[in-house]
Amino acid sequence: MYRLVFTQVLRRLDAEAVHHRTVRALALLARLPLLKRLLHRALAPHDPALRVSAFGVHFPGPLGLAAGFDKDAACAEGIAALGFSHVEVGTITAHAQPGNPRPRLFRLVPQRAVINRMGFNNAGAAAAARRLRRTRGVPVVVGVNIGKTKVVPEAEAADDYVASAKELAPLADYLVVNVSSPNTPGLRDLQAVTLLRPLLSAVKEVADGTPRRTPLLVKIAPDLADEDVDAVADLAVELGLDGIIATNTTIRHGGETGGLSGRPLKARSLEVLRRLRAKVGDRLVLVSVGGVEDVDDVWERLLAGATLVQGYTGWIYGGPLWASRIHRQLSRRVRRHRLSSITEIIGRTA
Ligand SMILES: Cc1cc2nc3c(=O)[nH]c(=O)nc-3n(C[C@H](O)[C@H](O)[C@H](O)COP(=O)(O)O)c2cc1C
Repeated sequence: MYRLVFTQVLRRLDAEAVHHRTVRALALLARLPLLKRLLHRALAPHDPALRVSAFGVHFPGPLGLAAGFDKDAACAEGIAALGFSHVEVGTITAHAQPGNPRPRLFRLVPQRAVINRMGFNNAGAAAAARRLRRTRGVPVVVGVNIGKTKVVPEAEAADDYVASAKELAPLADYLVVNVSSPNTPGLRDLQAVTLLRPLLSAVKEVADGTPRRTPLLVKIAPDLADEDVDAVADLAVELGLDGIIATNTTIRHGGETGGLSGRPLKARSLEVLRRLRAKVGDRLVLVSVGGVEDVDDVWERLLAGATLVQGYTGWIYGGPLWASRIHRQLSRRVRRHRLSSITEIIGRTA
């Protein structure tokens, strides 16, 4: 059914217009308590065997929505009601900014991929904080992903991240320092250990200072050289971070300027996960994202050492019930393998 709607209607519409309409619909859903709860009961993961604990936070299942969809923390409850175990909102910057000129979002349907050069369009940390303070009607784990405001020079990057962290860390179940999006000039240079160490140390001080101590993760690019992946992993362990999210979009493609996501990213994302697991074992929580399309992909990432898995492009092509379907299939697979918890497979092939 969704395939028909996608091929006949959605793919003919402007990709960003569809995106904004979907966010608005999910934000509206969040304001309809009865429908929201009914959907949540029907679609969210409720199987105790799918529960995952990571950095002191309890997730009802392993599969969450990656950053970039709910940039302004406008509709996390609606997303949870559709079956995602967690929602990473953002990227949020300290100051509101419009992002890059349109068009900036392109579907590559035959490749099951997307290219985007959104450029962190968002209403800023204070606006996101106001939304995150609203009480919730359904349980949802919310990660908050922060990035650098475009006009802020590299020398002041740490202060800019710290400003966002002060505003948002107290409201987040976990906080992510994003240094890997390709659409803010110079951002990915912050992955160099010499720049990353002071940046992460400063944000960690803020995250550690919240009443519940907010877990802190860093999100990395798939285009890092293997030695640089290792260097970031070592740094994350040294600084006592809680985890690494791998990976963001890739700039290694021949299409429109921007970051490529979806199926073509799958192999490299898995490779980076395997490398990280070999390097850090279970000292850090690994969150795997990039090209996850179906239950087999989620299973493979868990086996390779991910504790949590995220997707975005797979949802665009898989339809609104994508996460709910995968969680149901995971439940069946857990039973078939006679496991009492899905966590038993984490890192088994690592
Ligand atoms: C339209 C779009 C916008 C994105 N925006 C962000 C963002 O703001 N911050 C971020 O960390 N990642 C962002 N991403 C990257 C995703 O979170 C994810 O890392 C990447 O798309 C790979 O996963 P996928 O293949 O499942 O889409 C974006 C991806 C897409 C497709």
